[in-house]
Amino acid sequence: MNVLVVGGAGYIGSHCVRQLTAAGHQPVVLDNLVFGHRAAVDDEVPFYPANLGNEKEVGKILRKEKIDLVMHFAAYAYVGESVTDPLKYYFNNVASTLHLLRCMLGSGVKKFVFSSTCATYGEPEKMPLVETMPQAPINPYGQTKLDVENALKAFARAYGLSFAAFRYFNAAGAAEDGSIGEHHDPETHLIPLAIDAAQGLRPPLQVFGTDYPTPDGTCLRDYVHVDDLSRAHIAVFDKLAEPGTGLFYNLGTGTPTSVLEVIRAVEEVTSKPVPHTLAPRRAGDPPALYADATKAQTELGWQVKFPDIKSIVATAWEWHRTHPTGFAK
Ligand code: UFG
Repeated sequence: MNVLVVGGAGYIGSHCVRQLTAAGHQPVVLDNLVFGHRAAVDDEVPFYPANLGNEKEVGKILRKEKIDLVMHFAAYAYVGESVTDPLKYYFNNVASTLHLLRCMLGSGVKKFVFSSTCATYGEPEKMPLVETMPQAPINPYGQTKLDVENALKAFARAYGLSFAAFRYFNAAGAAEDGSIGEHHDPETHLIPLAIDAAQGLRPPLQVFGTDYPTPDGTCLRDYVHVDDLSRAHIAVFDKLAEPGTGLFYNLGTGTPTSVLEVIRAVEEVTSKPVPHTLAPRRAGDPPALYADATKAQTELGWQVKFPDIKSIVATAWEWHRTHPTGFAK
């Protein structure tokens, strides 16, 4: 299939582009490079540095490249910033997506794969999370993703759009050959910060909160390898043939890992200590978030290749070790 990957120069999008090529599909990347990195996309892949607001241009790309399906990864994803500047998030995550969907419908492209998040669940009372649990986001970032999920349901009914929305847990790791990986600016995610601290490239890591109701007092998260996430996006293609199909899947390994366990994994993999200090809680962090991904496993035959934190961190280490400044020259 010819697949337009919107946000294909970003962290998850760029890994998905590689997996699409490996699976015999033809990816085409659209990325405005606000957060994406041109070097994350191989030269052979057609690349358009367009903005979604430019519907004329996006429509032209859809037609010229004979696109069958669109994957949409482009979004702002800093939870804290979404609280202080929600307008930016509603414009970029909701309004831009509506521009894209209008272009698609206008060009007769009716298959869509959407990058959603476990942040749409808010602070759930029960764990692990299943797809049918109530969604009550506690920040504008999660709300914008839920707003798009709801728009998609209505568009499926009204216009016959077929879509799958994947609710990611904590995307982590890097391509196995270490050639592409995670590079955010600013970086706020635990694994890259811990690795950089171990390399002496950043100040000691701050452990945000040690008094949570968890076994070691630090937050539990479900770290899932970025290539495993990508493979689910491709496995769903066959399910989107019927017009009006709407699918939602959690993507996680189902294994909760604490902040201190991540630090230990980084220490073991790198054979370096991770200098760290114990700090107060970070606002808005739920104590525990982990997935029940049975639905993706049974319906899509999705099996993770990286089930444990050490194997995920090992791939991240290969990327960071060989690219200490990420994609920056
Ligand atoms: N953490 C630290 N120190 C740091 C950074 C993180 O202790 O310097 C802790 C956090 O408090 C949290 C865990 O490490 O407990 C993971 O934090 P990340 O920032 O790596 O990831 P989050 O779980 O906060 O965020 C992820 C995605 C978001 C998404 C969110 C849903 O990156 O896009 O899950 O809750 F919104």
